[in-house]
Amino acid sequence: MNHNKTKKITDLVLKAGKTALAETNTKREPEPTKSINWPVDCVVGPGLEGAIACESKIGYVNGAKGWLLYGGYNIFDLCAYSSFEEVCYLLLYGKLPTTIQLALLKNKLIKYRNNHQTLRALMNFSVQEMNPMAALRLGTNLMRNTTTDVNLEGYVPENVEVISADEDSIPMETQPLGQEHAIYEFPGESDSKKVKGQVHPTTGIDCCLHLISGIAVLSAAILRLRNGYMPLEPDPELSHAANFIYMATGRRPSPEEERIMDITLILHADHGMNASTFAAMVVASTLSDMYYSVGSGIAALNGPLHGGANEQVLKMLKEIDSVENVKPWFAKARANKQKIMGFGHRVYKAYDPRARVLAPLAKYLSKGNRKKSSLFAVAQELESQVIATLGVEKRIFPNVDFYSGIVYSCLGIPPDMFTTLFAVSRVAGWTARIQEYLRNNRIFRPRARYIGPFDMHYVPIARRSAKKK
Ligand code: CMC
Repeated sequence: MNHNKTKKITDLVLKAGKTALAETNTKREPEPTKSINWPVDCVVGPGLEGAIACESKIGYVNGAKGWLLYGGYNIFDLCAYSSFEEVCYLLLYGKLPTTIQLALLKNKLIKYRNNHQTLRALMNFSVQEMNPMAALRLGTNLMRNTTTDVNLEGYVPENVEVISADEDSIPMETQPLGQEHAIYEFPGESDSKKVKGQVHPTTGIDCCLHLISGIAVLSAAILRLRNGYMPLEPDPELSHAANFIYMATGRRPSPEEERIMDITLILHADHGMNASTFAAMVVASTLSDMYYSVGSGIAALNGPLHGGANEQVLKMLKEIDSVENVKPWFAKARANKQKIMGFGHRVYKAYDPRARVLAPLAKYLSKGNRKKSSLFAVAQELESQVIATLGVEKRIFPNVDFYSGIVYSCLGIPPDMFTTLFAVSRVAGWTARIQEYLRNNRIFRPRARYIGPFDMHYVPIARRSAKKK
């Protein structure tokens, strides 16, 4: 991706980085390099607060200062100078790639965009009636099926006719609406080159890349199917970010839209031991495989306290409707002890650096669009109200989800697809951290402190009273 064409965007990112540095400080922390003596001696709060689950070189979050680093590189520099593909390499291999290494990775991602068999199988389900995250999770299971014969549940005996989802004889239960001629061609032979009896691995770097490409293709296809259109063929000439917009909307993005999508992908790619990463790692630690693990990550990401918050933010901003309504709306929300979506974070007790980048990008994209710029104005007013109150009292600031919804909707992505977009990016962090953890794997197995009774005596059901004692 040529950043020369989008210098304005680079300048906005660098300005956000400068503000972040001015408001925090650049002093190095001894913490990140301190070695850990196992077992760790620390106080663990509810929700595993304070617990250290593993050692990692992938990324570092300093919640007090508002820092985010991937492999030692600060997020503002990565957004200003790098690309999502380069960041994937950094997360997966622990260093920035050479030109050849980057070209090889890009070629693999392009190759793995061809997921015909998976899409064909997915279209046997009523995708438009499903939650997009449910469809995405299903899609990753289907990707596994179409890629590998590794089957822990059993095996398919030889010489038995197996019904394949790719067979033309199977009618599609969900006929796509609105389009007479399918844009998508389903080639007869499997794109994954699966040969009968040949086992393809379900872990390893190639699986990571397969999933990074596959989740983007699946999300775009889910969006199309939900709108009644057939999925589009990927364009091998486009970057990961541009191809996603193209496959989702049918429109090739401008250089600025491509760049902003790319930055949102970089910003969401990894974030320490967040709930979805942890969920994916827990599953991987049982020596289940990458596809099942990523499916768990998707399930965890779906919740409104995690990746589902950005969709809620847009709903909230629309409900508030105007800048004048912000004050009374916020006063009522506070009185009801309502959580304000897009604010607060378990780790950040400072302004989230990702929100610092997304805010000016939301402003930039919404300029000239009356509805979008009015949403942005509401967001800014709400931000100042929250910072002046909850910010002072509880160190609550905007998080990554606060401005991302405005950015996505300016790029033509509907709100119910926002969380899948989070997954399109976070799959890089999930897979990278799983790869790293599996090198010294130990099954995750925390304990609960038992606080129940010890001396209960079994009473036969006929003698149990309905009355509570
Ligand atoms: N609005 C109002 N009060 C809040 C908020 C908020 N958004 N977030 C936290 N608080 C208060 C909370 O009520 C509690 O107050 P008190 O101590 O008086 O009971 C205190 O701050 C600590 O909150 P918590 O819920 O115990 O904090 P947590 O670390 O368990 O939860 C959180 C973190 C992100 C789940 C929470 O801040 C929240 O629910 N935020 C809204 C949802 C959201 O925006 N989620 C996206 C998170 S960032 C992206 C991602 O992870 O996917």
